[in-house]
Amino acid sequence: MSTLSPLAAAFRQTEYPVGGHGRRNLDVLKEVINELDGTVESDIYGTGEGIEAFQAEMAAYLGKEKAVFFPSGTMAQQIALRIWCDEAGIRKVAYHPLSHLEIHEEDGLRELHQIQSILLGEKDRLIRLDEILELQEDIACLLLELPQREIGGELPPFEELVAISAHCRAKGIKLHLDGARLYEVLPYYQKTAADICALFDSVYISFYKGIGGIAGAILAGEEAFTAKSKVWKRRHGGDLISLYPYYLTAGHYFKQRVHKMPQYYEQAVELAALYNSCHLVTTLPRVPVTNMFHVRVALPKDKLEPILIALYEETGVGLSHFLREINEHTCGFEVSIGDCYARIPKNELKRALERLDASLQEVNWPM
Ligand SMILES: Cc1ncc(COP(=O)(O)O)c(C=O)c1O
Repeated sequence: MSTLSPLAAAFRQTEYPVGGHGRRNLDVLKEVINELDGTVESDIYGTGEGIEAFQAEMAAYLGKEKAVFFPSGTMAQQIALRIWCDEAGIRKVAYHPLSHLEIHEEDGLRELHQIQSILLGEKDRLIRLDEILELQEDIACLLLELPQREIGGELPPFEELVAISAHCRAKGIKLHLDGARLYEVLPYYQKTAADICALFDSVYISFYKGIGGIAGAILAGEEAFTAKSKVWKRRHGGDLISLYPYYLTAGHYFKQRVHKMPQYYEQAVELAALYNSCHLVTTLPRVPVTNMFHVRVALPKDKLEPILIALYEETGVGLSHFLREINEHTCGFEVSIGDCYARIPKNELKRALERLDASLQEVNWPM
């Protein structure tokens, strides 16, 4: 029996899902494996030609001395912060209240590393420069997430990043980049990954979000830092005897998609404008700054769900498989543009959004 929600089940039947790169099924692995020479040796506990070449390639892309492949960003980032805390002799770090570490990692920093987190800024906006400049507590490290996913993928101006970096250097505070979606911010900033990473002491990037791989992360920085991170990776059991299914797929989809980020970004701007022309709908941010944004609909979740299901069945266009309740009057979902968007005929997409607008105009809900 299917465990999918009715919305997810209707979404799965659509011919034209709007976000992402397609289904996360075994074809993601098969596309890569089928092209490979089966006699190539596996990596062993983080060593071997293949993994080392990939790490060197990523270090060069990020403009860092060294890079280490990790099975997950959760592991990589907790380790990065642990290293910076040990070096400073301070067990405190600061980050946004909706950082992945704060809301999705079951208190890993505190439980595994006895590191306290200082939450900077508010849940509905970016951390401001003055909040960093005025921070009174001694911290070992400040973590910035670019883009800030939980508020729709917002970004500070580049000059602000430069000012934050200069302040941290002057104060001896390490600056770490949660760059799970780093590639996605480059078109907006009109910078290279290395330009951005030069402002940070350590950097994490992911291979399964905008890149669409299976899993995996890179942690990069100076050699003294990455050498310590390898020891911690071993302690955490992150040195799987073979990581090749992850780094090979990571490398494959990185090459296939990293240059498409400007296209995804433009398409996100186009789609957000269509959403904003619908009754009761707004996007966060109103004009996206990356390939992602959040859609907010001023209706309770249980009122929007049947509208979307009917829309998917009628138009074949799938807007989202999931609805998040924001409060009793509002719900929403995240959009992240990938390869699927270009496959939708423009007229079909427009028709679907017009249908959404018409359904929301008709809805009987007290405002
Ligand atoms: C911003 C951000 N940081 C860190 C992570 C953790 O990555 P992983 O799932 O590889 O542990 C995620 C995952 O969604 C993320 O979105």
